[in-house]
Amino acid sequence: MLITQQPMFRHFWYPVMPTHLLDAGHPKAFRLLGEDIVLWKVGEGRYASMEDRCCHRTAKLSMGWLENDRIVCGYHGWAYDCTGQCVSMPQSPEAQKIPYKVKSHLTEVRYGYVWVCLEPDPINTIPVLEEDGAPGFRLIHEFYEPCRATGLRLMENFFDFSHTGFVHKGTFGNMVDAKPRKTEIEETEHGLVLRGDVPVLNADEHIQRVVRDSGLESVRHMVSQWYMPFMRKSQINYPNGLIHSLVTSATPIDDERSMLCQWIYRNDTEAEVSAADCIEMDRRITNEDILILEGLDPDVPLAPAHAEEAHMYTDRPGLAMRRRLLKMMEARGEKEVRTPRNLARFGIRVETASA
Ligand code: FES
Ligand SMILES: [Fe+2]
Repeated sequence: MLITQQPMFRHFWYPVMPTHLLDAGHPKAFRLLGEDIVLWKVGEGRYASMEDRCCHRTAKLSMGWLENDRIVCGYHGWAYDCTGQCVSMPQSPEAQKIPYKVKSHLTEVRYGYVWVCLEPDPINTIPVLEEDGAPGFRLIHEFYEPCRATGLRLMENFFDFSHTGFVHKGTFGNMVDAKPRKTEIEETEHGLVLRGDVPVLNADEHIQRVVRDSGLESVRHMVSQWYMPFMRKSQINYPNGLIHSLVTSATPIDDERSMLCQWIYRNDTEAEVSAADCIEMDRRITNEDILILEGLDPDVPLAPAHAEEAHMYTDRPGLAMRRRLLKMMEARGEKEVRTPRNLARFGIRVETASA
């Protein structure tokens, strides 16, 4: 699947930029699903986004500036309001109704991010995160950074409990006890939920401190939510009652890259474990994942007929994601688009799937 070639993905909400990056009052550029967009702050708690392309001579509007709630093109000074309507042309100051418009996008603010949907009819709603604002929970923003891994590869990784012993052997992975425990998958309206236990090894002093558990071998209970198409919340429940909920959106930049937007909720206090310590732990763990994921083929086959990858028991959540996305695409009359290189392979590889 090539994400930018599947129009369906344009109909989902994505968090694209932390609001604080726009609060200084300068427009900012982002590439969402291969499309260049500009974002800016319109007023208190209000943000706007539209095509980053002036309808006069295609200048990047993100190179312009703001005048009150309008964005001004840096090339000839045309000004646009937040609906994309051109409302002022300095070269024709007498013009009353200007017949030019740039495409604007649906824009919302949630969880400290500006969210954008490129089309006017979103398929999903912005996920409701029960920890947000709940008594006893704090929010810590962790990462906002691009990576060369696609959304579905990241989602599959987050729901694959069998990689931890290997990829995370330098942090908490237990390679000796790699046999996965039983997991339960439940399909939901927004995606799926996976419940299961993961054996871990708390051998690292820093991790022991952050998870407040000095026991060497331990088991975490995970409740992981997949929010279609590229967002997850992994609620990690430690035996001591600590909850560390990781929220990650792999916001699609293009066919190969995602913007990793990650924040966490924890039911403890800064005095118990500092935010900096939590971020450092998740930084080390995330780096381990990204190192592997950046080497994977970005073109994930959705259709089972493209049996280019072998599977095992713990791949079931990822396979459920593939099935679900394909079904949604087909219901919209869309066909899966593959890279020519992988299409050429189709029919050549021998299926080894056993899951
Ligand atoms: S290109 Fe934007 S005003 Fe001319
Ligand atoms: Fe991982």
